[in-house]
Amino acid sequence: MIVLGIETSCDETAAAVVDDSRQVRAEVVLSQLDQHRPYGGIVPEIAARSHLDHLDGLIAEAMRRANLHFADLDGIAATGGPGLIGGVMVGVTMAKAIAAVAERPFIAVNHLEGHALTARLTDDVAFPFLLLLISGGHCQLLIVEEVGRYKRLGTTVDDAAGEAFDKGAKLLGLGYPGGPAIEHAAAAGDAARFVLPRPMLGRPEPDFSFSGLKTALRQRVTELEARGPLAAQDRDDLAAGLQAAIADCLADRTERAIAIARTRRPDLAALVVAGGVAANGFIRARLQTLAASTDLRLVVPPARLCTDNATMIAWAGIERLRRGYIDGLDFAPRPRWPLDPSAPRAIGAGVKA
Ligand code: KG4
Ligand code: ZN
Repeated sequence: MIVLGIETSCDETAAAVVDDSRQVRAEVVLSQLDQHRPYGGIVPEIAARSHLDHLDGLIAEAMRRANLHFADLDGIAATGGPGLIGGVMVGVTMAKAIAAVAERPFIAVNHLEGHALTARLTDDVAFPFLLLLISGGHCQLLIVEEVGRYKRLGTTVDDAAGEAFDKGAKLLGLGYPGGPAIEHAAAAGDAARFVLPRPMLGRPEPDFSFSGLKTALRQRVTELEARGPLAAQDRDDLAAGLQAAIADCLADRTERAIAIARTRRPDLAALVVAGGVAANGFIRARLQTLAASTDLRLVVPPARLCTDNATMIAWAGIERLRRGYIDGLDFAPRPRWPLDPSAPRAIGAGVKA
């Protein structure tokens, strides 16, 4: 079984070809970072136009590298949401057109399901597992029971973890995207000098909140800047303080979720971390300690598969196709698409699902 995957829900235009023996036949990604950087964040209209400009060329390139024709495919999968609607429409329309012409099934993939199932492609992780999804738009803890079956245990009530990094970096003048810049600065900083709050720590429900952390950081920056421009050491120490606070929140909330998940699923064997923030080495080390102390296997896919990519969409397409889940050409792109529809809708601006 061979599936073409397409990802256009945010600021990466991507195409990939994956087969059911877990071979990635081709993967191409075009980041739009340079187009959005001058604005300090993603501009949806620029993103949609850029997907439109580049997607056909990227798909042709992926098919060329895989040495396949559309007729060789068993399905065409595209991110159907959640995400920036203009971009999702570009990818879904393209996938439907290829599916119609090649007379192959179309599969609309939930972007979050793509992140969730990646660990099955890379590490053959069995169900059920606990997923900590930490990206620029999402911050959730879910039990992944089966393809299409998720139990959300916790989510953010305001910003996502990646947003906390991005907004923190902006306050520190470190540029966009903030995660890698904060991690780099933090490596030269002292996390004990500025101790920032740990919102939600110890709460019984494994939810997250990061906006108070951002406010606390802003206060420290304002205090320091009253005495003059921020010194490089101050900036590095603040970055280290921010990273430590985020890591503590993630570890505490995940520990709580592990306890809850175990009461529902005693057979839980793995903690999977996905999303761009999983690229952070400090956070990974923190979660590794937690996994070891709770007797779970920690699985973090390689960085290129943690950030947005089409390989995860193609793989989720294979998982769905195997189970006979295909979609009609009347599928409508979804700006919001929760993995667990029974979970109460989260409040807050940064929450997409
Ligand atoms: O999964 P992703 O590529 O896109 C979304 O779906 O959001 O995640 C991007 C997010 C950004 O907020 C970025 O700052 C964060 O992941 N990120 C990091 C690191 N690399 C990327 N955060 C912390 N440390 C990193 N090394
Ligand atoms: Zn993502």
